Amino acid sequence: MVRFARSALCVVIAASTLAHAAPGKEKSIARGRYLVEISGCNDCHTPGFAMSGGKVPEKEWLTGDQLGWQGPWGTTYPPNLRLSLQKMSEQEWIKFARTAELRPPMPFWALRTMKTEDLRAIHRYVKTLAPAGDPAPAYLPPGQEAKGPVVKFPAPPK
Ligand code: HEC
Repeated sequence: MVRFARSALCVVIAASTLAHAAPGKEKSIARGRYLVEISGCNDCHTPGFAMSGGKVPEKEWLTGDQLGWQGPWGTTYPPNLRLSLQKMSEQEWIKFARTAELRPPMPFWALRTMKTEDLRAIHRYVKTLAPAGDPAPAYLPPGQEAKGPVVKFPAPPK
């Protein structure tokens, strides 16, 4: 009887620990979604997002784009973050976000400025979206012609 009571107590403790852990994680995932929405990641990393006034279903968010961005740096394509972040552990993502120097027009400095808990929240949120879509086209160096459509950046005014 005592043994039964003890194991029942363990179950209760384990269940309440889980119950406490879950809302914290849920909150962090919700914050990740909020950060992705307000910091404009969808504008480039979700096909048609900016052009449709943000009317793209969440299941297509962050799947990368075939639309190229062309300038003196060559042609870049916003990668599929649903695939990229799946491959990184939380620690790897935080390290990447703190150190990566990415090509235009990716605002990599925004990632560097984010607090660790915000980066963690973004990672958690993107991981809850299942992997989807295909990899974006590979980067093309200057002078190499792009096959699909591109946004061209003119030389800035002097
Ligand atoms: C103005 C367009 C734009 C916005 C806004 C933007 N990105 Fe990007 N992002 C890009 C482009 C283009 C690349 C590819 C850069 C390169 O080839 O070096 C990129 C690359 C990345 C990469 C590297 C992925 C990989 O697989 O190599 C990550 C991670 C990333 N962006 C995350 C984000 C997050 C998170 C946000 C929102 C806070 C964001 N980006 C906002 C355009 C954008």
